[in-house]
Amino acid sequence: MLDPYLEFVEHIRRLTGIDLIHYKRPQMERRLAHLRDRRGFSDFSSYAAALSRDASLLRELVDRVTIQVSEFFRNPDRWADLKAKLEVVAASPFRAWSAGCAHGEEPYSLAIICAEIGLEADILATDLDERALQVAARGVYSPHALTNVSRDRLQRFFEPAPDGWRVSLAIRRRVRFERHDLLADPYPRDLDLIVCRNLLIYLTDAAKQRIIAGFSQALKPGGHLFVGSTEQLVGMDSCGLRLVAPFLYQKTDGP
Ligand SMILES: C[S@@+](CC[C@H](N)C(=O)[O-])C[C@H]1O[C@@H](n2cnc3c(N)ncnc32)[C@H](O)[C@@H]1O
Repeated sequence: MLDPYLEFVEHIRRLTGIDLIHYKRPQMERRLAHLRDRRGFSDFSSYAAALSRDASLLRELVDRVTIQVSEFFRNPDRWADLKAKLEVVAASPFRAWSAGCAHGEEPYSLAIICAEIGLEADILATDLDERALQVAARGVYSPHALTNVSRDRLQRFFEPAPDGWRVSLAIRRRVRFERHDLLADPYPRDLDLIVCRNLLIYLTDAAKQRIIAGFSQALKPGGHLFVGSTEQLVGMDSCGLRLVAPFLYQKTDGP
């Protein structure tokens, strides 16, 4: 007998290119069933048919499954650790990648610390969702996203905008936004730093392992991987990544 959830996941893949098979099923199924019920569909197959016809319903689903929650300097102590580490080890030119950047709070936080320590950084910021990237490129945020931004940083790196605060042009210029699916697209190479936070937790172990192996290949020897503060990762040693600070890994020189 066919599994209605798997059929639905395949339907979403055909409609959006997003392959939910790589995301932890219990959480994803709960999330999708909740949305389906809220919209008044009794099963996945009638919901799937409606998604093919109704772009706004599909948009709602993409927003719900991608979970684009973020904020500047999320887990501020970890960002302070990262800044302290980069001050010691990093040199210009510095190549970084923020993978799963949502609305841009993360790559801009990185651009700000690089500016503060005088690092000439080229920051690639990617996400699965084009619309999130459009918001990110505009760089305008409500006060809620700026909770962890100090008054000094606000004055130095932001300007008032009618609907909130806009990241200054000098910071926006350091970040390039591109669409990229971590489960389908080739990875960049020769990176000094990868920031990938609060994304891996949603994935199956197999998908996580594939991404971590890809990150390891993308880093230069000595480069760093900065992950989220809830992320417990296994098998890092076998990918040549060793823990050097809480939630910060370094690629060893070996193969
Ligand atoms: C919870 S947000 C994390 C944002 C930011 N990294 C942070 O920690 O604040 C997760 C982001 O990962 C993106 N994402 C999910 N799956 C992805 C994939 N396969 N490839 C690239 N981005 C993905 C989502 O679109 C979403 O913007």
